[in-house]
Amino acid sequence: MRISIRAASKRDMNDILRLCLKLAHYEGKLIGREPDENSIRARVVHDLLHNDGCAYYLAFVEEEIAGILKVSAKDGNRAKISQTYVVGAHRCKGIMTALFAKALEWAKSRNIASLYLTVVCKNTYALSFWEKFGFRVDCAKGKNLLIMRRDVQPAIIS
Ligand SMILES: CC(C)(COP(=O)(O)OP(=O)(O)OC[C@H]1O[C@@H](n2cnc3c(N)ncnc32)[C@H](O)[C@@H]1OP(=O)(O)O)[C@@H](O)C(=O)NCCC(=O)NCCS
Repeated sequence: MRISIRAASKRDMNDILRLCLKLAHYEGKLIGREPDENSIRARVVHDLLHNDGCAYYLAFVEEEIAGILKVSAKDGNRAKISQTYVVGAHRCKGIMTALFAKALEWAKSRNIASLYLTVVCKNTYALSFWEKFGFRVDCAKGKNLLIMRRDVQPAIIS
């Protein structure tokens, strides 16, 4: 099984949208709320056409699209990890591990000091998944979300 990762471009817009919508529906189910598909579409289009401060990475198994991750620069020397999704059939094959390694490279190349992400409280598997990668819960965001943080340095796996 050959896993490859590459930075996405405008040509990948439809695949990116599809995976971002899948994630939004997955998380929407956990919190009992329908996602706002139009705002997701608008954000992806804006990112791909106008936002130099972020990157989407796509993972492929052979030629088949298998996962996505977005990393974006934020104020205060931080970057946000978001849109982390691996399609069901390809989970537990190291795909998010490989995508996250790319996000770390991206952050290091920009001298970014710390990373954060939001996780739906009820997504207990994702919470423990990110803990494996050194993220720790920092605070709550509303009643459904937790913010997790880690420094860019040192290692990927704690
Ligand atoms: C969370 C998610 C992104 C993980 O992606 P993945 O590609 O399956 O993860 P990896 O294969 O890189 O796994 C990394 C580690 O987690 C472990 N792991 C992965 N899936 C697991 C599972 N279902 N149960 C237990 N452990 C699991 C792996 O064994 C591996 O640990 P190891 O290196 O010690 O063996 C994926 O399950 C997913 O897309 N879930 C739905 C969307 C979601 O919750 N996104 C996160 C939003 S914050």
